[in-house]
Amino acid sequence: MTPSPWWERAVGYEVYLRSFSDSDGDGIGDLPGVLERLDHLDELGVELIWLTPFYPSPQADHGYDVADYRGVDPTFGSLEDVDRLVDELHARGMRLIVDLVPNHTSDRHAWFRSALNGPDDPYRDYYVWADPGPDGGPPNNWVSHFGGPAWTLDEASGQYYLHLFLPEQPDLNWANPAVRSEFDDILRFWFERGVDGLRIDVAHSLVIDPRLRDNPAPGDRPTDPRELFAAFEHRHDLDQPGVVDIYRRWRKIADEHDALLLGEVYLVDPGRVARYVDDGALQLAFCFSVLKAGWDAAEIRQTLARAVTAVGDRAAWPLSSHDEARAASRFGGGPAGTRRALAYLTLLCALPGVPFLLQGDELGLADGRIDRDEATDPIAVRNRGATGRDGSRTPVPWAPGPALGFTDGTPWLPVGRNRTPADTVAVQRDTADSPLSRVSRLLAVRRDLAPWTIDEPPEWIGGGRLVAFRRGRLTAACNVGSEPAALSVPAGARVVYASAGEATVADGLVRVPGEATVLVVDDAAGRS
Ligand code: NOJ
Repeated sequence: MTPSPWWERAVGYEVYLRSFSDSDGDGIGDLPGVLERLDHLDELGVELIWLTPFYPSPQADHGYDVADYRGVDPTFGSLEDVDRLVDELHARGMRLIVDLVPNHTSDRHAWFRSALNGPDDPYRDYYVWADPGPDGGPPNNWVSHFGGPAWTLDEASGQYYLHLFLPEQPDLNWANPAVRSEFDDILRFWFERGVDGLRIDVAHSLVIDPRLRDNPAPGDRPTDPRELFAAFEHRHDLDQPGVVDIYRRWRKIADEHDALLLGEVYLVDPGRVARYVDDGALQLAFCFSVLKAGWDAAEIRQTLARAVTAVGDRAAWPLSSHDEARAASRFGGGPAGTRRALAYLTLLCALPGVPFLLQGDELGLADGRIDRDEATDPIAVRNRGATGRDGSRTPVPWAPGPALGFTDGTPWLPVGRNRTPADTVAVQRDTADSPLSRVSRLLAVRRDLAPWTIDEPPEWIGGGRLVAFRRGRLTAACNVGSEPAALSVPAGARVVYASAGEATVADGLVRVPGEATVLVVDDAAGRS
């Protein structure tokens, strides 16, 4: 029998490094800052830490523009700090996955600097170059995620280079075998250093149509860059044939080290995501459709059911992400938003697969509020009127006081005007009914319940305002309405967790408080 993989039982936690904890007063989170806060992660009960990019980088896209895949930017610390982090996490039974950005490099990467020497440079073909289109403009109609065309003219050679993100993030040419073998070595470098796996940035990108054909264009062109990007049909630039083969190749390297490959497969259709977690490809893929459901029972039920059916226990379920609004904001903000986010997290924790928190989700945080002129995300800074991603990236509030304990200096991004002492780790740790106390308890309950050992997929029950499913001896029921609701459960079943208020079983019914999820266990079912 194959032993079960180590990540199966984990709850994941995204450390958005710039905003986690600053140890040296420069206002930017760093690796020693993470090391100082490991007790918090340990007490919370998360086991799988995803660390966002720490590589040398001009930070045009906050680190997702990598200038050297084997180094650490001095702003964040040193390679020795990464080694220490691996050791300290392992000593506590936790694991570390690092962010790998294979779709593009920084324009300051040595490969791109060399490629700019011209068509005969040995590194030219590491990137995607094309002559101007018939009208003298960009070679095709592809747009960048972050606004404007996906092509920038290199005046020296008269050719355009491709960048699906910023012009400072030139796309690598994955049709070039040399690029493939460079990345084989980069993977080995990190696995040999002891990191436990990789979160693969825009894993559905990389391969493009060799003929660079136009994408079918939308009738209306929204002005917001991300909306415009979404309005195109990405027939030729995303999710192309052959991309999964890259992961099959990587998987062989990962398996030599028992390492995890977790893809950021940002496709709306879970059926498309499923192809990436085929046998022999990635072990896990984020299923981002769950970030799209509003606080509506039918929507949540349908979204979760479709995602679980397609991706099952190969899914990683993000409650929030540094690219989208936090769950508490998506669900309306304020106390209701927080309560709903905790209810949603409870559902995700009962599904097959690996739930993921973004730092601060354990505090029930909504997005931090900053002024427009404080925005730093290139989406907001470079596109008039566009909503950026700064709100979910504001620093973690650790304790009451200046900068809420995140830094002794001035935070690179304000902590958020809406933050209060009650949002901080220090206060919530000492408050019985705080989001932090609830979430820590939820994760402890999840460890006891071991839902990853349950073979059955969810059987959807309930209806109306109750989103509920049964898996073996476990029942999860989320009441999307504001009034309490009842669901019948087997005699002898007991409530093991409620995300808010109190839940009880009486006369074969569990009473679910409004805007809460309860977990109920039927011990008798376990014995049959
Ligand atoms: C996805 C990352 O999560 C996001 O923050 C980044 O801007 C893009 N990929 C480009 O690397």
